[in-house]
Amino acid sequence: MTTLGITINGQVHAPTEVRDDLSMNDFLREYLGMTGTKFGCGAAQCLSCVVIVDEPDGTCHTNPTCVTSAASFHGKTIRTVEGHAKNGELSPLQKAFIRHFAFQCGYCTAGFLNEGQVLLEQLAKTPVPRAGLEERIAEALDGHLCRCTGYFKYHEAVLDVILSDAKRYLMQEPRG
Ligand code: FES
Ligand code: FES
Repeated sequence: MTTLGITINGQVHAPTEVRDDLSMNDFLREYLGMTGTKFGCGAAQCLSCVVIVDEPDGTCHTNPTCVTSAASFHGKTIRTVEGHAKNGELSPLQKAFIRHFAFQCGYCTAGFLNEGQVLLEQLAKTPVPRAGLEERIAEALDGHLCRCTGYFKYHEAVLDVILSDAKRYLMQEPRG
């Protein structure tokens, strides 16, 4: 058994004893009842199970939960799909997913949402030129599998959020 203390969506979960081989996915879904994080391939191939990890230096990234032990998240701060809406209001990215009909069965949606959110936060710190934006989005979402083939619509939804707040996410072009 191993001790696991973790902060999830701003809520501190007191240290608890978990099996050494318990996956983070099972901890979220079976121990905490947070079933928004999905289990797809179970082999780090589809990325439907990723959560956002917030590092102490202010950076964030996604991490699969299916092949990662719960114990390895000890002391970490993470965000899951349940944490995106604030005070009952969906995030801009969630609203864009709906506007663009990006998902069908929704199984992959939490993964795309977390990845897209990380990209937005990275661009807010380090904006990119408009010319490189589509490639950057494609790179960010690469590896996320959608059995319902919603790839283009997810891409368009992320693009929509960025272009809607271009001053925040894009490098300002010099006026000619
Ligand atoms: S379920 Fe984790 S990557 Fe597919
Ligand atoms: S919406 Fe069904 S797997 Fe992506």
